[in-house]
Amino acid sequence: SQNQPGVLHKFKETLFSTLSSEELLNSLDSFHAREDDVFLVSYPKSGKVYFNHISSLLCFNGCQENIPNAEITLTSPIELGDVSKFEELKMCCKRRVIPTHLSYNMLPVDIKQKQCKIIYIVRNPKDTAVSLFHYYRDNPNLPGVETWAAFLELFLKGNVVYGSWFDHILSWEDHKNDKNILFIFYEEMKKDLSKSIKKITTFLGINVSESEINHIAWKSSFKEMKNNAAKENCDPHKTICALTSNKNLVFRKGAVGDWINYFTSKQKRVFDELFTEKMKHSELMITIWY
Ligand code: A3P
Repeated sequence: SQNQPGVLHKFKETLFSTLSSEELLNSLDSFHAREDDVFLVSYPKSGKVYFNHISSLLCFNGCQENIPNAEITLTSPIELGDVSKFEELKMCCKRRVIPTHLSYNMLPVDIKQKQCKIIYIVRNPKDTAVSLFHYYRDNPNLPGVETWAAFLELFLKGNVVYGSWFDHILSWEDHKNDKNILFIFYEEMKKDLSKSIKKITTFLGINVSESEINHIAWKSSFKEMKNNAAKENCDPHKTICALTSNKNLVFRKGAVGDWINYFTSKQKRVFDELFTEKMKHSELMITIWY
């Protein structure tokens, strides 16, 4: 109904919305999903590019590079950019893998109605904050931040792109038992990528052999992806991230636990207190971070 604020209205409250055209935002609410679409959802800096790479290789049986234009992998989130991306999506004749950073309540309604498969990537919020800090610092498209301490304060208040990490994950956690939604942890992927890939293939109903899985895992290692991105530097049309062409930001460190190099003991205490308070009803396997 007209009284209910739609995706456009809610997304406009976030900082990223300035990077989307008015026309695209106006069209989001009426986005037409397909039943076999796969949506990759994450809070920014949780490993979207990493994950996007893996799932598109999977959906295309590991041979994406051999069949250009046959399928589409949207590398920028559906809510960012201009409306031409909807045209591209309409033209796509195979299974679509579509990233988004929207929280559950902002998701276009057709995606929910069609019960499209959705994979939600979770990363330790401390590492996510550090990664986002570097992104802010080196990205002219985002508001300037002077110091780590100043940025952390913004992060804890939720005054960053896409708002609070806590609100984002909690909006999705409410739906973690929906049969079309799978939660995947960045840390698990780093620990045993082949195992995570198997989980994803089962969820997506894709038949992939053990050796193909191992091959995809190898192609998706941080080192391999970073090297390949460096080789692609000379192709100005090939963008891997909507917000920056600086590949050093997209592939910065790719590590688990880098937060330890940034948080003072006081900052850790403040963070943990807020975490405990906000996540007190959460049933996610967050022990992985503590
Ligand atoms: P760091 O800044 O901690 O290095 P997103 O793609 O959602 O923006 O997330 C970016 C983060 O994912 C960055 O984290 C980046 O290095 C990491 N990343 C990208 N590719 C990766 C890979 N193949 N393996 C592990 N981490 C990866």
